[in-house]
Amino acid sequence: MRRITLINGDGIGPEISDAVVKIIEASGLKIDWDIQTAGADVIEKEGTPLPERVLKSIKENKIALKAPVTTPIGKGFRSVNVQLRKALDLYANLRPCKNLPNVKTKFDNVDIVVVRENTEDLYAGIERQVDTDTAESIKVITRKASERICKFAFDYAVKNNRKEVCVVTKANIMKLSDGLFLESYRKIAENYPEIKKREILVDNLCMQLIQNPSQFDVLVLPNLYGDIVSDLCAGLIGGLGVAQGANIGLDYAVFEPVHGSAPDIKGQNKANPTALLLSAIEMLKYIGEFSYADRIEKALFKTLANGIFTADLGGTASTKDFTDAIVQNL
Ligand code: NAI
Repeated sequence: MRRITLINGDGIGPEISDAVVKIIEASGLKIDWDIQTAGADVIEKEGTPLPERVLKSIKENKIALKAPVTTPIGKGFRSVNVQLRKALDLYANLRPCKNLPNVKTKFDNVDIVVVRENTEDLYAGIERQVDTDTAESIKVITRKASERICKFAFDYAVKNNRKEVCVVTKANIMKLSDGLFLESYRKIAENYPEIKKREILVDNLCMQLIQNPSQFDVLVLPNLYGDIVSDLCAGLIGGLGVAQGANIGLDYAVFEPVHGSAPDIKGQNKANPTALLLSAIEMLKYIGEFSYADRIEKALFKTLANGIFTADLGGTASTKDFTDAIVQNL
């Protein structure tokens, strides 16, 4: 039986994790979940939101499904997510954004995959106070990280029958840093003659995404643009409740929704488990369980097509109603 780390998170994390575990169980797929607590709730007992045992578990199992965890503000704790990405060298952040059946949005033909570099850029956290009225942040772009994320994007495109990989930069202004990212893309692109190439500036991309998102296929971006553009794309398909994600490295992969721990609706049986479920479906595909992934996806889509929605999508179904409907459809 496949053993997978499950970080059930805090806030709405445990509710949506329970829902997803129940749905996967109902599909007939047997998974040995190695449940690891992390986040705000474990700080008191273990002194850190990311105890060593969590990393050890992921290193052993190689794959994790992660519900959101709260990052305490102003107490000196670094984000668990940023720590995980660093500790496991999860260099690629993958966010597929595709319209879901019956979920009404401004566009009905969005099918974009955002591939975001996850380890450097302004996220390197190198900042200094020059004087009381001046602060500086340093943008770090390396050839190694740029080439490997571009290779990841092209490999993903080939594996998933995608037609185009578009690189997004502001290389007209940041000629050295974004220029290096663009140069790396051009070099890697030469190895993929079957995939269409496209280069776009990030400001133009945002305008085009709002006007005509269906023209885009796979996007590859440095960290900060990737962060912003992936939330924009999540908005195009119905918002946080349905936006899935994954952090992937050479040795390990952590699948998680885009949203946070939603403390405002914690424990109210209101949370939408779709984003975590879609992340789990992507995880099942990643480990080669395509038929189960497909069955679960069909059951989810049927539930949505039948108009069963949680409150964030304008419906009246509770987390439990929604989960039960998916189980029924399986
Ligand atoms: P959030 O994503 O938790 O919530 C924003 C809004 O969206 C809230 O109104 C919430 O109720 C709603 N929402 C989010 N997910 C939902 C779902 N599945 N179903 C229905 N409604 C949903 O963002 P916020 O409030 O900024 O952050 C709360 C905490 O989460 C913070 O401590 C933050 O650091 C943490 N966080 C953790 C992440 C992770 O673990 N990957 C990612 C983002 C934030």
